[in-house]
Amino acid sequence: MNAKGPLDTLVTVYGGSGFLGRHVVRALARRGYRIRVAVRRPELTGHLQPLGRVGQIHAVQANLRDAASVAAAAQGASALINLVGILFERGRQRFSAVHTSGAQHVASTAKAQGARLVHVSAIGADEKSSSLYARSKAAGERAVLAALASAVIVRPSILFGPEDDFFNRFAALARISPALPLIGGGSTRFQPVFAGDVATAIADAVEGKAVGGTTYELGGPEVRTFKELMEFVLKTIERRRLLIPLPFFVARTQATILQFLPKPPLTPDQVELLRTDNVVSDAAQREGRTLQALGIDPDTMETIVPTYLWRFRKTGQFHGRVA
Ligand SMILES: NC(=O)c1ccc[n+]([C@@H]2O[C@H](COP(=O)([O-])OP(=O)(O)OC[C@H]3O[C@@H](n4cnc5c(N)ncnc54)[C@H](OP(=O)(O)O)[C@@H]3O)[C@@H](O)[C@H]2O)c1
Repeated sequence: MNAKGPLDTLVTVYGGSGFLGRHVVRALARRGYRIRVAVRRPELTGHLQPLGRVGQIHAVQANLRDAASVAAAAQGASALINLVGILFERGRQRFSAVHTSGAQHVASTAKAQGARLVHVSAIGADEKSSSLYARSKAAGERAVLAALASAVIVRPSILFGPEDDFFNRFAALARISPALPLIGGGSTRFQPVFAGDVATAIADAVEGKAVGGTTYELGGPEVRTFKELMEFVLKTIERRRLLIPLPFFVARTQATILQFLPKPPLTPDQVELLRTDNVVSDAAQREGRTLQALGIDPDTMETIVPTYLWRFRKTGQFHGRVA
């Protein structure tokens, strides 16, 4: 990334303690970078320590809503990565404060100290969306590019990996429930992508292998409907369950109540998100703004997901059906 080698190069990862963060920190640690993880609760980053050598990974407190703490966490860093995102609003954690103003704080900091910036958004980011999440992500992208035109933006589709919140959640639900819901009939299309592949793309972008000012759309090798994904979960965990279509308005009504749970399984805003396909656009493919264009051959969910969903089988790691 510059004349310095990775060992002398500090990268600050905002949101590095989350699901994608673990994969990004691992990718950077393997390449020898010094990593500063900036989160609100640095005491919850112990799981990252084994990913690097002693002293290679260090956590500091920062809140994206507080510009001064964002700048303090960036001191001396040659690259900044912003992974901070929320799926529902709570207290002062509003979509606009985190996804838009917070993203702008990181980008202004990168600009002020001449650091490279990789900003993580999401496929579906759209200022015209009926989902506040999607609108705030789009506004965040715009704020980032206005502050630093050379920023690299990556928009993943739904992520999978051992700690994911999608396959694990529906497998856990299938264990206790006789049926799985097909929200909106289950026809929304997704392009699930391995968190490790997205982390490789982000680490490559830190090294200048992505084109600055470009928005990459990162999807896996397969496009599947929500219904097909539920069928894949059931097959993987060797369980039979009913798949019950739930019209959007019914899901929305349920979500209106569920949203008040401490960690809501569904919110009305997420139901809105499910109305739109979550796949890499034709334009991104045409213009080479994909994983493949970055030289990454993405892993399939068939190879990765069974390696961690087996725990939801009745027989655990042993197959129930024998040849
Ligand atoms: N998971 C997916 O399927 C998916 C799909 C598309 C896009 N994305 C995007 O990818 C990014 C990473 O997602 P993820 O699944 O890894 O999320 P995650 O597991 O929820 O992690 C979020 C991280 O952000 C930190 N954080 C939250 N609020 C913060 C704040 N105000 N200031 C500083 N840090 C804050 C959290 O730590 P503390 O709580 O300790 O601060 C945590 O480290 C997000 O931008 C998300 O929108 C994810």
